[in-house]
Amino acid sequence: MNRICNLFGITYPIIQGGMVWCSGWRLASAVSNAGGLGLIGAGSMHPETLREHIRKCKAATEKPFGVNIPLMYPEIDTIIQIVIDEGVKIVFTSAGNPKTWTEHLHQHGITVAHVVASSKFAAKCEEAGVDAIVAEGFEAGGHNGREETTTLCLLPAIKKITTVPVMAAGGIGSGESILAAMTLGADGVQIGTRFALTEESSAHFTFKDR
Ligand SMILES: Cc1cc2nc3c(=O)[nH]c(=O)nc-3n(C[C@H](O)[C@H](O)[C@H](O)COP(=O)(O)O)c2cc1C
Repeated sequence: MNRICNLFGITYPIIQGGMVWCSGWRLASAVSNAGGLGLIGAGSMHPETLREHIRKCKAATEKPFGVNIPLMYPEIDTIIQIVIDEGVKIVFTSAGNPKTWTEHLHQHGITVAHVVASSKFAAKCEEAGVDAIVAEGFEAGGHNGREETTTLCLLPAIKKITTVPVMAAGGIGSGESILAAMTLGADGVQIGTRFALTEESSAHFTFKDR
């Protein structure tokens, strides 16, 4: 069985990336209901807004879903506590050091993936004991790392230095590009922009239209 499907208990190794202002409970639950893994993007949410989205997501799907937490979040302790209290089982951390929270989340039975843009940080993920790594190339939407390594170059470099399951992200938006990433060794993919344009995304309709 596919390692990402196995790890997250999903049907397809397709993750809908956490996206500030775009990925609330509607999008996350729709993706999870369709057999992928939906992520609520905590980055644009006040702590109580996040709690509400988690509760609505739980009501909208019985399938696994997760929360993306950018670690430079100012109220990070509160956010982490909410995720634990609400019984979230999967967390994707980004924009910070994977060592800071991975162990604590593991102690609460949470599966942790971390987003990186270089093989140096992928090695840190392995040291931190994360369960999966997102290799995010420079093509990715949102704020990416300072490195300018593109997905098709980053992915093989990361696969070379780790045995942890890897999801490719950045510039993937079709079945063919998923296949290309998997041919290069990806265990799964994380997609952002394509999901930001869906009906269930909370991005403004003018943006979606354009
Ligand atoms: C509008 C937007 C907002 C994003 N916000 C976040 C975020 O809050 N946290 C995060 O880890 N990644 C964020 N990302 C990155 C996505 O999770 C994902 O890794 C990326 O979009 C994949 O590349 P793609 O857009 O080419 O599919 C964002 C992406 C977009 C397009």
